[in-house]
Amino acid sequence: MTGVDYGRFPSPCYILDEKRLRANLALIDRVQKEAGVEIILAFKGFAMWKAFPIVREYLPGATASSLHEARLCFEEMGVPAHTYSVAYIPEEFEEILGYSSHLTFNSLSQYRRYRDQVLAHGRKISMGLRVNPEYSDVTTDLYNPASPHSRLGVTAEHLADGLPEDIEGLHFHTLCESTSFALEKVLEQFEARFGHLLPQLKWVNMGGGHLMTRQGYDVDHLIGLLKDFREKHEVHVILEPGSAIAWTTGELKSTVLDIVDNNGVKTALLDVSFTAHMPDTLEMPYRPRVLGAGEPGTGLHNYRLGGTTCLAGDFLSEYGFAEPLEVGDSVLLSDMIHYTMVKTTTFNGVRHPAIGLWTAHGEAVVFREFDYLDFKNRLS
Ligand SMILES: Cc1ncc(COP(=O)(O)O)c(C=O)c1O
Repeated sequence: MTGVDYGRFPSPCYILDEKRLRANLALIDRVQKEAGVEIILAFKGFAMWKAFPIVREYLPGATASSLHEARLCFEEMGVPAHTYSVAYIPEEFEEILGYSSHLTFNSLSQYRRYRDQVLAHGRKISMGLRVNPEYSDVTTDLYNPASPHSRLGVTAEHLADGLPEDIEGLHFHTLCESTSFALEKVLEQFEARFGHLLPQLKWVNMGGGHLMTRQGYDVDHLIGLLKDFREKHEVHVILEPGSAIAWTTGELKSTVLDIVDNNGVKTALLDVSFTAHMPDTLEMPYRPRVLGAGEPGTGLHNYRLGGTTCLAGDFLSEYGFAEPLEVGDSVLLSDMIHYTMVKTTTFNGVRHPAIGLWTAHGEAVVFREFDYLDFKNRLS
């Protein structure tokens, strides 16, 4: 039981639970305080800006991957962003500088191209370089930034002669929903390959993928690792998780529109789409929990869950429900706050789910509902 009164929200709707968000943030805050590090939110995973005032009670800022995310940080979090982009767009660069406190380059050629412009900017901006430790525990290539010939980050062979001038920090990101023990292995590789540069650095950004809010994550081991690294190298340490912040903090409410039967397999058609509203369920892929349902079985009412787009694969394989589903029933898809809202499309013109908050005081707040113009205005 989540304690959320789902009946008070429209359908479909992403519903963030403030209490669960605060519980995650409190844990993350404990890590930053006890380890003496800085933890910022990666917008790419969670950018529901109406919730930023809550996030800011615990975290000092955010990391941005583009001009738009940097601007969102500046305007809605009230602080300049730690910006890193795979490749900056020349016409946007000056504006990005205005919204950033830290600026990380993905390659030495980007550094050479933009360094003087950063130095000429009125406000001091700390420059960093993303490096590739060429090690990751992530086995799916789609999510592995350290896979062979990866485009993400400079490899050690290019930095044998030392740190480029005016670079104050190094950034790496090679984890995805990983444990502190995976980070420990990455740190060994990082030190082996880039250790000669560490004495000149002001900061090291260890990227995201630290799923410290997942049950069973060894938080004390993480704190120990970060503290040791910081003390050994006398360097400021930054972490920028996305998933960990919004992990299991809310549901996507949907409604059964129809039930079809094809050769004994029933599909409940929902007013949401897996490809348009929860793309990771198909891309990663992963199987979300559905509240009140489990794996299919005998004695249960088994249904595939179908999305409303024309994509043949826009469905999840069967779930078992204790009672038969009826048209109009709610189906609540669990853990649908991170990497959902930020990745949606309006493919097939499907209605975008509303965005709401179940407050700590038991109020249902709907921040945004979407309509025809949201669909139309993305096109021309
Ligand atoms: C550079 C960088 N930082 C941070 C993150 C956030 O990772 P996560 O949401 O897995 O914590 C990502 C995710 O892809 C990333 O590419």
